[in-house]
Amino acid sequence: MSGKTPTVSAMLDRVLTLEMVRVTERAAVAAARLRGRGDEMAADQAAVDAMRRELNRLAIDGTVVIGEGERDEAPMLYIGEKVGTTKGPAVDIALDPLEGTTICAKSLPDSLAVIAMAEAGSLLHAPDVYMDKIAIGPGYPAGLVDLDNSPAENIENLAKAKGVPVGEITACILDRPRHAKLIAAVREVGAAIRLIGDGDVAGVIHTTDSEHTGIDIYLGIGGAPEGVLAAAALRCIGGQMQGRLVLDTAEKRDRAARMGIDDPNRKYATDEMARGDVLFAATGVTDGSLLDGVKFEGDIITTETIVMRSSTGTVRKIWAEHRQLEKFNNS
Ligand code: FBP
Repeated sequence: MSGKTPTVSAMLDRVLTLEMVRVTERAAVAAARLRGRGDEMAADQAAVDAMRRELNRLAIDGTVVIGEGERDEAPMLYIGEKVGTTKGPAVDIALDPLEGTTICAKSLPDSLAVIAMAEAGSLLHAPDVYMDKIAIGPGYPAGLVDLDNSPAENIENLAKAKGVPVGEITACILDRPRHAKLIAAVREVGAAIRLIGDGDVAGVIHTTDSEHTGIDIYLGIGGAPEGVLAAAALRCIGGQMQGRLVLDTAEKRDRAARMGIDDPNRKYATDEMARGDVLFAATGVTDGSLLDGVKFEGDIITTETIVMRSSTGTVRKIWAEHRQLEKFNNS
């Protein structure tokens, strides 16, 4: 080694993959201690504290581009916050220390601690607004579904490409009043709907394994931060996604413009939300169809994490038993 800072690509490869797992594991364990306690804020704060502490140990010059909110509303892991030791490659970081705060507070399935990392400038810098999303799994022709098509067109195209009747397609949609028309349109065409209470990062990822999850397509409006995280996951695991920010007020358009978003109606493809070489990791907080949640058994804590990288397409599931429990106690 010449003593120069290693390239992002070289660093992203090996060391950071495992380091990222530590980051999401710590956040997941911290949140899991507060599962089912009905206190969303406490669970989120515990995950944020743990994730931030662990991130600051990494040899990276990191910038949070998708985080807990904009600087004036989030004291920690806000958009623009610098993390890491600064002695390492410059990277963009998208994170959600507790994706599905309500799920965790109610001890329901599929809350996750999530992070994505890519070379600086590679992840969409999006404000904390809503995003209209559509996603399907891998193996379909590009452009098969599109945000500008009607739900019926998208579902019919997908059914045809999959070689099944429309009645065998299942869409995943967040259970929200704003989706009343969308839900009616999907039912009208004859498809089934998995209505989820929260957690659309997992909802999108589920489309990539429809055989096991039973979900073929994700549709509807959720958080923009979760949209960028889901796009990062699909970049690694395959599949197609489009997102369009919901910038329905002048104030939101201004906030977006300050982040460099000039066209408020732009439709982003997966690789426009997460470009280049992307790493993604998520650890289960509660048990779910994607990952098992954290288990506390005597002196052992067990975690399950999925970690993947876009340039190689490697997807690893890391099941870990942790014995040095003091590491998980605020140190
Ligand atoms: P939190 O973890 O911030 O609670 O987000 C959960 C979530 O369900 C996301 O998965 C989703 O993108 C977003 O909330 C939808 O927002 P809203 O609850 O306002 O409809």
